[in-house]
Amino acid sequence: MTPQLNARGDVAVLVPAAGAGVRLGPGGPKALRLLAGEPLLVHAIRRVAAAASVRQIVVAAPAADVEAVRLLLAPVAPVTVVAGGAERQESVALALAVVPADVAIVLVHDAARALTPPSLIESVAAAVRGGLPAVIPVLPVVDTIKEVGPGEVVLGTVDRSVLRSVQTPQGFRHTVLAAAHAAAGDPLTDDAGLVEKAGLPVTCVPGSDLAMKITRPLDLILAEALLHVT
Ligand code: C5P
Repeated sequence: MTPQLNARGDVAVLVPAAGAGVRLGPGGPKALRLLAGEPLLVHAIRRVAAAASVRQIVVAAPAADVEAVRLLLAPVAPVTVVAGGAERQESVALALAVVPADVAIVLVHDAARALTPPSLIESVAAAVRGGLPAVIPVLPVVDTIKEVGPGEVVLGTVDRSVLRSVQTPQGFRHTVLAAAHAAAGDPLTDDAGLVEKAGLPVTCVPGSDLAMKITRPLDLILAEALLHVT
């Protein structure tokens, strides 16, 4: 039976997965790469749907794949699938357009972070609910970071204590994300970046090792080992 979402929840989760060259089948995009026989998008949506506050999930798919993605996700959770745009930012804006005004909190998630636990989705949402306009989950940077110049010659060592690795979901008050997108000029800026440009604070909360981005072959091996850890 398809799990139901919380009809009284105050959170919508947007998953832009409409990148160029996106196609169902082998050799396709990151979001549809298989992990233990299922596309990353399916793993990601299953965990989003298990988060208690989530009322709506919106996936942006390539226009030609909307129906296929709808069929793929129908057994996983009730998901609204919309056609994405030319840039990621436009895909997020198109997904945001179908979120009802009375949903107070909007999260933007990445399907490649397929093992993101429901508890992280809830903690980002809770921080927004607590009054913050924009919230991002982060991890400390553990490696030493060098700035390099021409010829890979080291110019200096960066103070990593002020650096963070950013994960998703990124969380926003609905009105804040809508205003940031309405004012957006640079299509390459991420959602939190748009809010930063609007002059509002973006606050970090602790991320999760499980929210790692699954892109390289090594990540798939790690993810398979972590599949049952939540
Ligand atoms: O191509 P890139 O790695 O920047 O894409 C990041 C994410 O944004 C991917 O999940 C991709 O599917 C999504 N995207 C989108 N619409 C676009 C381009 C990218 O939803 N037009």
